[in-house]
Amino acid sequence: MASSVDVVVVGAGAAGLMCAATAAYRGRRVRVLDHANRPGKKILMSGGGRCNFTNLNSTPQHFLSANPHFCISALKRYTPQHFFELAERHGVDWCEKGPGQLFCVHSSQPILDLLLTECEWAGAEVQVNTSIQRIEQHGQGFRLHTSSGVISCESLVIATGGLSIPTLGASGFGYQVAEQFGLTVLPTRAGLVPFTLQPQEKEHLTPLSGVAVPVSVQAGGQTFREPMLFTHRGLSGPAMLQLSNYWQPGEALQINLLPEAGLDLAAWQQLRRQRPEARVEQVLQQYWPKRMAQQFCAWQQWDQPLQHFSQMALEQLDSSLRQWTVKPSGTEGYRTAEVTLGGVDTRQVSSRNFQANTVPGLYFIGEVLDVTGQLGGHNFQWAWSSGYCAGEVV
Ligand code: FDA
Repeated sequence: MASSVDVVVVGAGAAGLMCAATAAYRGRRVRVLDHANRPGKKILMSGGGRCNFTNLNSTPQHFLSANPHFCISALKRYTPQHFFELAERHGVDWCEKGPGQLFCVHSSQPILDLLLTECEWAGAEVQVNTSIQRIEQHGQGFRLHTSSGVISCESLVIATGGLSIPTLGASGFGYQVAEQFGLTVLPTRAGLVPFTLQPQEKEHLTPLSGVAVPVSVQAGGQTFREPMLFTHRGLSGPAMLQLSNYWQPGEALQINLLPEAGLDLAAWQQLRRQRPEARVEQVLQQYWPKRMAQQFCAWQQWDQPLQHFSQMALEQLDSSLRQWTVKPSGTEGYRTAEVTLGGVDTRQVSSRNFQANTVPGLYFIGEVLDVTGQLGGHNFQWAWSSGYCAGEVV
């Protein structure tokens, strides 16, 4: 059956629903199409089930892109404060976990409810279980051949997100549409993703699965001071997820395992003088969980009392603890990644209204674009800002 609307938004995720409601409030007839069986699946799963829905301190510096200035305009026009006020109007219970990081208190559901309610109030239609087989330009607009018939529209918004977590509906559809209309898609890779380890390190670190410690970690010219979590596959936790956005395959990570302890070489020398009988494990247990102190000391063979450590051995001990070098074998990939780096090249899209420069009526918003936020609510903020700004013009 053929039908016609003003705007079709493909993707009923964070950016798509925001855009749809904003456009429908302007009186546009809007239909959101999604191939999944329900909207906003990623929202529900986000933030460990409690959606970190924005970051009040979000700035363009929190985003990666080949075109770093692209995000400035939208982030300025639809700010974290705007979304926070919307959440307040909908009575979303929130808490601040890290500085500026706003999470839902109980579950992510209120954020999805907010978006669907806004769509309903504005009159935007959300249609799930609909796959798009073909898109063609038709007059001033587009014609979409879908599993539920042909739909014509003036404006077509692509909000299909990135490739992470295919089981939640992720697909490369947005990239295919971009290529169909002659836009460049920059190479994609998994971001905000745990690292996997080489077998020799994995063997010693797997027993620590579940242990978390504060670290300072460095790679790709970036340093993050956050908790690190040992997993049965490798290294995760905020420190590692953040760093994965900047890490290049083959690069080593430099990890300071005692960033807050003040336990430097001079401190070890003093300890050797003052407590010659003490063992490294006893000292480390003051800073780390006992299991970690035991496992590390067994692995590194730090089993002698401190008095038996030569100057060189103390230097090695200090360096192993404060400049531990780990070369990951890779990352866990899109299966567990929170985001996709790369995507539709923003140099071909307007930073004000998200329209493709060479294809009037075609818009790209959200994660499908080559704009990726750091951990901490920045990615949803990008979805809200880009969705809102496109919704104002489509
Ligand atoms: P999003 O992925 O939300 O939506 C895309 C929609 O398009 C989906 O509904 C999908 O089904 C649909 N679609 C895809 N292909 C299609 C096709 N061919 N046809 C029709 N529909 C199609 N960020 C943050 O700021 N705070 C957080 O707490 C978290 N936590 C988090 C946890 C986990 C596990 C993940 C995977 C991700 C996060 N994120 C996050 C990242 C955040 O979820 C992400 O950046 C936004 O959801 C991106 O919004 P979009 O609307 O662009 O895509």
